[in-house]
Amino acid sequence: MINKGNLLSEGKAKSLFETDQQEKLLMVYRDDTSAFDGKKKEALKGKGEINNKFNAHIMKYLEDNGIQTHHIETISENESLVRRLDMLPVECVVRNIATGSICRRLGVKQGLVFEEPLFEFFLKDDDLGDPLINDNHIIAFKWGTADEIEIMKEKTLIINGLLCKIFSEVGLTLVDYKVEFGRSGGDIILGDEFTPDGCRIWDKETGESLDKDRFRKDLGDVVESYQIVAHKLGISI
Ligand code: ATP
Ligand code: TYD
Repeated sequence: MINKGNLLSEGKAKSLFETDQQEKLLMVYRDDTSAFDGKKKEALKGKGEINNKFNAHIMKYLEDNGIQTHHIETISENESLVRRLDMLPVECVVRNIATGSICRRLGVKQGLVFEEPLFEFFLKDDDLGDPLINDNHIIAFKWGTADEIEIMKEKTLIINGLLCKIFSEVGLTLVDYKVEFGRSGGDIILGDEFTPDGCRIWDKETGESLDKDRFRKDLGDVVESYQIVAHKLGISI
């Protein structure tokens, strides 16, 4: 039995609480949804529960395939217990197909399929609008070491192979996504979440978006689309 302690942080979609065990945190998935650096916001009923269960399923699959994650266990419909990490202040983005910010930034044709997955770092800083950064920035500003950069890249690309496989097997394309890592006892561990809030998933046949783009673009049926993906992956909600 774990007791909920002080609120440690309240992000845009999740809240983190301390517990009576120093090294464990309680992650609460809220229904709050935001886009465009928090300028568009809405509470989408049931999203917290779906994301909590979705994330647990993905984290377990990654663990079973050799990727260390912070996930310990799901303890309620919208809460999970995780290992406390010292988060690196960067977002690791992998793109299999060009869409979103890379098209706006570089004029790349929407839908271009990359021969090799493309890796990018973004700085986690809402006030600056999460800018694109490179390895040299991370080292110069001591956001991470050269070793940590290599480990994050290596793990993110292994995760890509593992996830592309399970999505593809059920008729879905994993277009792009963001993951975050943290330090714990000398290891670099996958933290935060993997849910349709932080990735793009397209139906292979129709090309339909089944992820947070539905919210960004006002396409409707946001939670229903997350549910479709969860159902296809065999996640019971
Ligand atoms: P976004 O990540 O979308 O830019 P945010 O920071 O508001 O926005 P939330 O998902 O609402 O994100 O908040 C979760 C916060 O918890 C993030 O700052 C994340 O880095 C942090 N976090 C995730 N996992 C852990 C962990 N195991 N230990 C400590 N902090 C964590
Ligand atoms: P990207 O195309 O860079 O951004 P945008 O959503 O503004 O077009 O995002 C690439 C993928 O990474 C996309 O699936 C969303 C995810 N992502 C986040 O969830 N949070 C972030 O802070 C960033 C930079 C990306």
